[in-house]
Amino acid sequence: MHTSTTILSLAAAALLMGGCAQKKELPMSSAITKAPFGQTEAGQPIELYTLKNASGMEAGIINLGGIVVSLKVPGRGGQIADVVLGFDKLADYEKPNPYFGAIVGRYGNRIAKGRFTLNGAEYKLAVNDGENSLHGGIHGFNHAVWQAREVPGADPAVELTYVSKDLEEGYPGNLTVKVTYTLTPKNELRIDYSAATDKDTVANVTNHSYFNLAGQGQGDILGDVLTIYASKFTPVDAGLIPTGELKSVAGTPFDFRQPTVIGARINNDDEQLKRGKGYDHNWVVDGTPGTLRPAARVNDPGSGRVLEVLTTEPGVQFYTGNFLDGTSTGKSGKVYQRRYGFCLETQHFPDSPNHPDFPTTVVKAGAEYKSTTVFRFSVE
Ligand code: GLA
Repeated sequence: MHTSTTILSLAAAALLMGGCAQKKELPMSSAITKAPFGQTEAGQPIELYTLKNASGMEAGIINLGGIVVSLKVPGRGGQIADVVLGFDKLADYEKPNPYFGAIVGRYGNRIAKGRFTLNGAEYKLAVNDGENSLHGGIHGFNHAVWQAREVPGADPAVELTYVSKDLEEGYPGNLTVKVTYTLTPKNELRIDYSAATDKDTVANVTNHSYFNLAGQGQGDILGDVLTIYASKFTPVDAGLIPTGELKSVAGTPFDFRQPTVIGARINNDDEQLKRGKGYDHNWVVDGTPGTLRPAARVNDPGSGRVLEVLTTEPGVQFYTGNFLDGTSTGKSGKVYQRRYGFCLETQHFPDSPNHPDFPTTVVKAGAEYKSTTVFRFSVE
């Protein structure tokens, strides 16, 4: 880590000395550094991995919950802002919180009544959202301490591994999960997920970052312009469980096929919006699941920052931070009010284990679970 830091500073110094007079810019080096991020209540040391690329982007990831604690991204004029919500202190991530930046699983999103049947056996999960199980239950992947290792290669990358034990939170099978974060030279944070189990199970692992492209704590996200590349969504009941219908977005406030301001229709008199207290729904991403394709694009007209989300997953949950209520004091003392961030959780559809018509979330013993999502940043 020392070496890479040195290389980085040498390159930066060379760039400065070269100044504008030099036509060919010296590329800054990418690097990964590791630093302590405190200890858990149980006394386990947690590390912060900082991934830097040569284009001015930086991602901070800790091995508690695989949490993305910071994402520093250039905006118009090269201005850097941290575009994810989060905390300064480890203790705040350990307490129940809105899943800021975390890897959620074993099953991201909801499973109705915390129950499902697989191979004729009924499994009862930890219930933590009314009568439903949300984001893996009470002690989900977001609370786990993961093993971390730097991945050698051209781009800075960190691989996190967690073994979720048989019947942890009620799920069958010992599931070994790997999540690799890679920062590419194109200002992409790429997340590769893989998992394997010794007994048939279900899995749906995602990242729960809350973005604010103006910078964390800089107001609400209602003025951002959103595209979701989806012709259908999965309407929900009062408990936010899909009814089973794949409904056309045409003529509804869920039609984001053309770039649309997030806040334009959020308060419409619409039953689905009322149930979600805003947007908190799963869209069926157009194209073929299993292939990396665009799911969504957001631009913040103020800062010029653009986020594109690509995924191999069949769906994406667009959530407008409706439950944020000012009780979370985040980084640098910023208070996160309602709708101060949005999430684009790439995923299988909620409650899939109870919907045989939905793309399956079953992971067979001996088979490999694989999924990729890319968060790509640019400026316009
Ligand atoms: C997901 C859910 C929301 C909410 C948040 C966390 O996005 O769909 O309903 O639970 O996580 O607060």
